[in-house]
Amino acid sequence: MGFYSDVILPRLCDLAMRNKLLLPIRERVIGAAEGRVLEIGVGSGLNLPFYRPPVREVLALEPAAKLVAMAQNASRGTIMPVSFLEASAEAIPLGDHSVDTIVTTWTMCSIPHADMALAEIRRVLRPAGKLLFVEHGQAPDESVRRWQDRLTPAWRAIAGGCHLNRPISAMIEGAGFRIDRIETGYIPGPRPMTYMYEGCARPH
Ligand SMILES: C[S@@+](CC[C@H](N)C(=O)[O-])C[C@H]1O[C@@H](n2cnc3c(N)ncnc32)[C@H](O)[C@@H]1O
Repeated sequence: MGFYSDVILPRLCDLAMRNKLLLPIRERVIGAAEGRVLEIGVGSGLNLPFYRPPVREVLALEPAAKLVAMAQNASRGTIMPVSFLEASAEAIPLGDHSVDTIVTTWTMCSIPHADMALAEIRRVLRPAGKLLFVEHGQAPDESVRRWQDRLTPAWRAIAGGCHLNRPISAMIEGAGFRIDRIETGYIPGPRPMTYMYEGCARPH
């Protein structure tokens, strides 16, 4: 807690996530959502304008109060009803099997206990529901991975706990999901930060 984490970091997060290269990815990921949707780590609400029917409602979970306030502002111009949960993904305040779709976009890198968060995601998702994700993470190239491992301790300290080297597919599968669809690859930018995993997973 402090000025950097409470004031500066939320603004930096918002600024970084406004990268225009991410817009078509957001549109694609959110376009596959349906029913009652839980978005994990909604941040400043940059995905909110993309929700459309067959989405019925959006539950926007975010632990950082400043980002919740920014996302509430962003939700004013959206067509879907959005309600906010100021909470952490490691303890989702929802019942078992109560949502149809869960969305994470560039969030799993920052969740301190991602294994607990994925267990919670599994618990609240309906058995026939889907987890839609786009995340950056561990690259396939040995040289890039070495940089990801080297940079992560310092990067975590300045970038809100963000890990560069998380093995996203393995984490999702390890939490009891079957990956139905996945696309991986670098987007433009520094390679340790830009290896993307985009896809859809369902509970086993
Ligand atoms: C890089 S930002 C991405 C924000 C947003 N998903 C987007 O696409 O613009 C990472 C987000 O993860 C959130 N986060 C960090 N720890 C979390 C936790 N334990 N549970 C849920 N979200 C968390 C941060 O507060 C932040 O909003």
